[in-house]
Amino acid sequence: MTIKAVRGVHDILPDASSTWQRLEATARRVFEAYGYREIRLPIFERTELFARGIGEVTDIVQKEMYTFDDRTGESLTLRPEATASLLRAYIEHGLYVQPKPVRLYTMGPMFRYERPQAGRYRQFHQLNVEALGEDHAGVDAEVLAMLVELFRALGLADRLELQLNTLGDAACRPRYRERLVEYLRRHAASLCEECRDRTERNPLRVLDCKKSQCASVLEGAPSLLASLCRECDEHFARVRAHLEAMTLAFVVNPRLVRGFDYYVRTTFELTTRELGAQNAVAGGGRYDGLVELLGGPPDAGIGFAIGMERVVLLLAADASTDARPLALLIPLGAEAFARLLPVAQAVRARGVAVDLAYGERKLRSELERANKLGAAYAVIVGETELARGEATVREMKSGEQRAVPLSELASELGVLGGRA
Ligand code: HAM
Repeated sequence: MTIKAVRGVHDILPDASSTWQRLEATARRVFEAYGYREIRLPIFERTELFARGIGEVTDIVQKEMYTFDDRTGESLTLRPEATASLLRAYIEHGLYVQPKPVRLYTMGPMFRYERPQAGRYRQFHQLNVEALGEDHAGVDAEVLAMLVELFRALGLADRLELQLNTLGDAACRPRYRERLVEYLRRHAASLCEECRDRTERNPLRVLDCKKSQCASVLEGAPSLLASLCRECDEHFARVRAHLEAMTLAFVVNPRLVRGFDYYVRTTFELTTRELGAQNAVAGGGRYDGLVELLGGPPDAGIGFAIGMERVVLLLAADASTDARPLALLIPLGAEAFARLLPVAQAVRARGVAVDLAYGERKLRSELERANKLGAAYAVIVGETELARGEATVREMKSGEQRAVPLSELASELGVLGGRA
């Protein structure tokens, strides 16, 4: 029996790699232009970090974490997100003494025990950004502008919608929560089972329910936007004004709530209609108070994470062309192989990709292989060529051939490969 990958966990195969690399390179370029620096974080942490950071009553902490005891009996968890880890590192290494906002980004795999489906996996990858230590609404606008800029640079901006909301803060949300719970209890009979359960545990999440059964109840639910305290209302107005000043398109979605307890004020998602139910390509928000909750100074913060698999699904799969070798070197026999081995070495040292056959197959089958590899040239060295001290360089497309002295072959291939 063969052993297969774990359910919900995927290999990223070579044909997809160039798309991933393009996404990573574009993200680094855009993030660094906005002053973000990379931080690389561990993949597992103490379970307590996520329980405290994400919130005990969230779905992630209650149902979705990969938690295990190590050999000393300490409870560890594969990170379900990067924000809590990044803040842990920010506090642990005293990064808060740097000029604010401290701008950091990280990328890598996350782990959530969710029901796998298209665009939803148990191991997936995020590009994650955090701006720490500044509560000015200008940071919110700048973070959002950077998010949109990345998708513009990838050519995807037109296919996405920026949804914006505010969740209020400790001054106004508890009051709203009470009103919402009271309303939901009154309409409990019309809600789905999950929403009835959430009414007691995590009532704001009910607003996010997509079931038609709950839709009519939710239409009449009290609005958080109408219940904001003055500070939150003003902050939200400033964020919107800054976005408008940059002509950044967004829609306010008062029902946008996110699956983490740490958010206050600005929250947002970048959504698409092209990926079915998994419509969020990125999500984030402000989390003033979280650094302090995790034992650090009372620093504000805002950030987002992008689901890389979902972006790759949106980017037209462009099977890599850059992995094609310039040439397949075809020695016919052991002596020719020995002659071509150092040539291949020298050409590769110039950064030009060539492939070398082993001299044991017929010319015809090697030429077929050159075609399959997508090589632009075949370089043939048989007995006749050896006797003349030459190689036959054949252009695959036209079939045109010419002789090149073996002593000049490496530099000639360097020229053809654009590395003279
Ligand atoms: P999140 O909304 O849970 O936020 O995840 C961000 C993005 O990761 C989602 O929009 C989605 O594209 C992708 N994603 C999430 N779960 C999966 C999955 N199971 N399979 C594939 N893709 C997935 C966060 O993680 C927050 N930490 C974002 C943040 C950073 N907030 C502030 N700073």
